[in-house]
Amino acid sequence: MRTVRTVTELRSALAPARRDGLTIGLAPTMGALHDGHLALIRRAREQCDVVVVSVFVNPAQFNERSDLERYPRQQSDDEALAAAAGADLLFAPSVDEVYPPGFATTVEVIGITDRLEGAARGSGHFRGVTTVVTKLLCMAMPDIAYFGQKDAQQTIVVRRLVDDLNLPVRIEVCPTVREADGLAMSSRNSLLDPPQRSRAHGLFDALETARGLAACGERSSEVLIDAALRAMRSSGVDPEYVALVDPETLEPVAELAGEALLALAARVGDVRLIDNTILEPARASKSSQQPLQGEAIATCNA
Ligand code: PAJ
Repeated sequence: MRTVRTVTELRSALAPARRDGLTIGLAPTMGALHDGHLALIRRAREQCDVVVVSVFVNPAQFNERSDLERYPRQQSDDEALAAAAGADLLFAPSVDEVYPPGFATTVEVIGITDRLEGAARGSGHFRGVTTVVTKLLCMAMPDIAYFGQKDAQQTIVVRRLVDDLNLPVRIEVCPTVREADGLAMSSRNSLLDPPQRSRAHGLFDALETARGLAACGERSSEVLIDAALRAMRSSGVDPEYVALVDPETLEPVAELAGEALLALAARVGDVRLIDNTILEPARASKSSQQPLQGEAIATCNA
């Protein structure tokens, strides 16, 4: 695996593959690679001839200076991990390479970026994400780009961006990779001290509590959200939001009628974490008097 730092080097490294019509895959990351990132790289390795991983801590998407400053950076570990997962090229540009003096263009997706993370972090967050993702796609020109379901809203925003700008790339979304206890892997997990790390389990608990209720026939968004909030508070986690939304439009849903995205954000100490899951209504609702099927029978109270 080779590490390149400029767009010129990246383009010349990819030129032979492009000339030969080989498939190029890109996994964009901000580094501090963990198994969630490595799953994207491995998927790219299975599907593409050439695998590029970008590592760029994008200042434009950070709404808190302290979050940017202490964001973990571990370049030599990243190189070893990306290589072991099957990457051919690691693209690690400087801030000046991505945003040279005089840089004046941004890419903005409107509407869906106002909700959830956009509402919590401000409109600049997704503007930073969409601008850098557009740039990375233009720099590497991959056939397929890989994103994680862990950042559910980001995947929806990126799909919108790619459709709206007719960018010639396929977006693949990979499932969330979790620690053994269920905590979604995140580069920010390394900032948690041991007591915070055990409290952070409250995010997964909240998702599982809501999932359990939904499996038992609960359909009210208010009840599901309230249960998730209570689960987080009882673990000592400070919820920022819990929302049950349509998985495509991100519009809030009042009743669980089909698949819905349960998304949440919380602070554990001063570390901000997000997670999500897809909820589905139970086949028989609580009020229908029908016996629940399968596993739900064992876990639901009458
Ligand atoms: P980062 O947080 O480093 O994540 C890079 C990619 O890895 C994203 O697509 C994210 O959803 C995915 N990912 C992170 N944790 C994951 C997990 N536990 N399971 C599965 N996938 C996971 O997201 C970003 O960087 C940036 O916003 C970026 C897209 C690189 C633009 O700067």
